[in-house]
Amino acid sequence: MNVLVVGSGGREHAIAWKLRQSSRVSQVFVAPGNAGTELDAENVAIPVSETAALVRFARDNRIGLTVVGPEAPLAAGMVDAFQAAGLKVFGPTKAAAQLEGSKVFCKNLLRSADVASAEYRVFRDADTAVRFIRDRYHSDEQDVPVVIKADGLAAGKGVIVCRTRDEALEAIHRIAREREFGDAGAQLIIEERLDGHEASVLAITDGQTILTLPTAQDHKPALDGDQGPNTGGMGAYTPTPLVTPEMLAQIEEHILVPTVHAMKRSRNPFRGVLYAGLMITNQGPKVLEYNVRFGDPECQPILMRLQSDLLDLLEATVDGALDQIEPPVWDPRPAVCVVMASAGYPGSYKKGHPIRGLEEAAEVPDVKVFHAGTTSRDGQVLTDGGRVLGVTALGDSISLAKRQAYTAVQRIRWDGAWCRKDISDKALTYARSE
Ligand code: AMP
Ligand code: GLY
Repeated sequence: MNVLVVGSGGREHAIAWKLRQSSRVSQVFVAPGNAGTELDAENVAIPVSETAALVRFARDNRIGLTVVGPEAPLAAGMVDAFQAAGLKVFGPTKAAAQLEGSKVFCKNLLRSADVASAEYRVFRDADTAVRFIRDRYHSDEQDVPVVIKADGLAAGKGVIVCRTRDEALEAIHRIAREREFGDAGAQLIIEERLDGHEASVLAITDGQTILTLPTAQDHKPALDGDQGPNTGGMGAYTPTPLVTPEMLAQIEEHILVPTVHAMKRSRNPFRGVLYAGLMITNQGPKVLEYNVRFGDPECQPILMRLQSDLLDLLEATVDGALDQIEPPVWDPRPAVCVVMASAGYPGSYKKGHPIRGLEEAAEVPDVKVFHAGTTSRDGQVLTDGGRVLGVTALGDSISLAKRQAYTAVQRIRWDGAWCRKDISDKALTYARSE
């Protein structure tokens, strides 16, 4: 079977790499892909935004399954377009993708399904939101434990965690008056700030059966010790000792199952990857947000541990037959992914720096270097984005996987390359505190 992966990040490289290992797959295409997918698959020069061209490509090349990686095309209805053309496609429909595309939709659904999440209020205009904050918090001295969120997609930037009243008022101003995130700020949410540690629990579901993947933890802040501005994710590891097996069972029963059922009841059955961003609080796990796709970079270490055929899993999901396949087999060894980034990221950065040492890095045992923001020119790999590579390694323990990943990182060089040095260290603190 020919398969098509839509996207160009580390997540899509990992999906394409894993699909290529399937004995049932003849050709893997990635649109538009990067310099890494060019080696492990075949790139197709169609941008993610061109749904009609992608549908045409899938039809002309007898694509048996298309996998849509990022959230934007899912929220825009790419799955609906493929389905309308009679093509098999993995991912939620536009209506189901609202779970990520609209935070108001998500919060209302969580409330109706009685799933633990932060208390919240929805506002349609800045004045009412400002009044709400001023009425509740009289001075700027006190802790103001709120998070202000733009309703729509804002590339992970539309969430402002506040500590003071002035920060909250400024956040409302930026989202609802200045419209820093455009139409995403047409509605905003003020919610309770939760304290605890974050974990990612991803599940694959066909709308009926839920198959939970190994737990993971992302590292969103740019700098070591969780300092600095938020990014798309500077590294991830799996499994995380933060989520014990008992807690995972509780997350399935009280979070994932009621969510999937509520989606079905509201006539938006969810098929695809349901990614719960969780805060593990003193009162137990609570949902911070849902994503409707594989996490990036969580996808890279998770798929590195998958020993079963990814095509079987994805196809069974699309066919509504997840209950009929053997449960996937996972490598018991943990995996760690370290993201290497361009100087300046998550702010502005330059592109086009030649990357050296990729072959040497690939020789480190149990390592796979997934590409994200890369391109190739005249046989040379160049930087082409903020997050450039996801250096991923397996090891007999989290520490050994970490060591292996950083051994490979040290062999890779370009002008301005940097990474966090402490990816997965949090795992050791959880393990100690048990
Ligand atoms: P989201 O896109 O909703 O996951 O938000 C991005 C990040 O903001 C999360 O990963 C958290 O670090 C933080 N965040 C979101 N909501 C809350 C909340 N209610 N309490 C504390 N932190 C939050
Ligand atoms: N790793 C966070 C995300 O994919 O949204």
